[in-house]
Amino acid sequence: MKTFRLGSTGQPHRDFDSPSRLVLGQIPYKNQPTKRKKRSQEMLGFLKRLFNKLGPGVYGLDHAVLNVPLPPSAMWMNMGYWEGLSDEPFNGLTVATQHTSDFPEACQALLNQVLTMGLLAHPPGQPVQLVDVGCGCGDQSLYLMGLRQRGHSSSAAGKEGRGSGFDSTPQKPDSALLSDPELRPRHGGDSRHPPSRPLIDSYIGITLEPAQAALARHRLQDKHSNPEKPPAEVFCADASNPDSWTGDLQHSITTMTSTAQTDHPSSSTWLLALDCMYHFRPSRLPLLSYAHSTLHASLMAFDLVVADNASWFDRLLLCLVCWVTGAPFTNFVSGQEYRRLLVAAGYDPAQIQIRDISRHVFAGMAAFLDRRVVEAKPFGMKMGKFGASRMVFDWWARSGVVRGWLLLQDETE
Ligand SMILES: C[S@@+](CC[C@H](N)C(=O)[O-])C[C@H]1O[C@@H](n2cnc3c(N)ncnc32)[C@H](O)[C@@H]1O
Repeated sequence: MKTFRLGSTGQPHRDFDSPSRLVLGQIPYKNQPTKRKKRSQEMLGFLKRLFNKLGPGVYGLDHAVLNVPLPPSAMWMNMGYWEGLSDEPFNGLTVATQHTSDFPEACQALLNQVLTMGLLAHPPGQPVQLVDVGCGCGDQSLYLMGLRQRGHSSSAAGKEGRGSGFDSTPQKPDSALLSDPELRPRHGGDSRHPPSRPLIDSYIGITLEPAQAALARHRLQDKHSNPEKPPAEVFCADASNPDSWTGDLQHSITTMTSTAQTDHPSSSTWLLALDCMYHFRPSRLPLLSYAHSTLHASLMAFDLVVADNASWFDRLLLCLVCWVTGAPFTNFVSGQEYRRLLVAAGYDPAQIQIRDISRHVFAGMAAFLDRRVVEAKPFGMKMGKFGASRMVFDWWARSGVVRGWLLLQDETE
């Protein structure tokens, strides 16, 4: 092993007894080629290791990653509603138990479930303001802003909005946009029911993740930037703490509520929380109280509760899941405790409506992730944390320990 040390002339000399290294701080300019040589050797070593890893065949299927469109056309991230009506009738009947296998479609269907129970159950015509917490990457923002009223006709748009007079049929990932006439292909559309005006008159989306907020804003700007369209904004903020809302978000909320009160007294304000409130730290209560007292908003949500009969062992496991996912365990309350929370926020207990849709959610999500892990593997795509999520959804589906609820708290009466 050799060491280079500088001699009195400033030239390095070899020390044949010491390990092979350059004595740092004593490298003269002349010595740079040695440094370069070392870098080349490192690079060579890296390439050797890389090719050893690749094995004899350089090509496989992992170049799929070069072919996948970026950014993807959809960026949904909820647990999905996997039951749908089959396109192909079985023995002449429409099969109602067929499950969709498409993730964006299932995510959008979950939103449709929430809307059908909430906003779409109301007669059309009145202006609507919407505050959408946990809005993710803007898929739901685009979908919602693409929904249009069909005047005051009582004609049904489809199974989701039956009798409501709203156009809410779209099922394909991007089809929300098709419900907007400006984005609808020329030969598509239903000329018998020309859409009249947007369903949502003013939209504020909030997400905690800066990258999600930026992407959502970009997508809204791209697809929704038209001065004649209703205002739609997305902010990066902590929805669980409305006291922390400042600046532009605070201004937009104030404008939304004051415009509603002065210009449209008959309008309704809604808070939408799609698969997110169990994340809210320390609790959902500050947001719910704010929604009731300041926004005077009706609430529509998909959220999680713990089954009344969950054992201490189930709760321990759930605590572990919460620890890994970062969701506060204290948010996993029973149905009764959830109702008490809504009452503590000021909502009328007589107006609380709940639908348990667990059987349409967890099993479908677990099966989808199962398939996805297998499908992605040959292409060298790793599912990482989603593999573990599969086990959790499977557990919830089999045990019923965690329930998926549609919640409605209607303040429009
Ligand atoms: C399961 S994802 C649902 C995303 C979206 N609703 C969808 O269906 O695709 C949960 C979302 O809640 C957001 N979130 C979590 N905690 C939040 C908080 N305290 N304030 C605002 N958003 C939050 C996350 O950033 C994420 O976008």
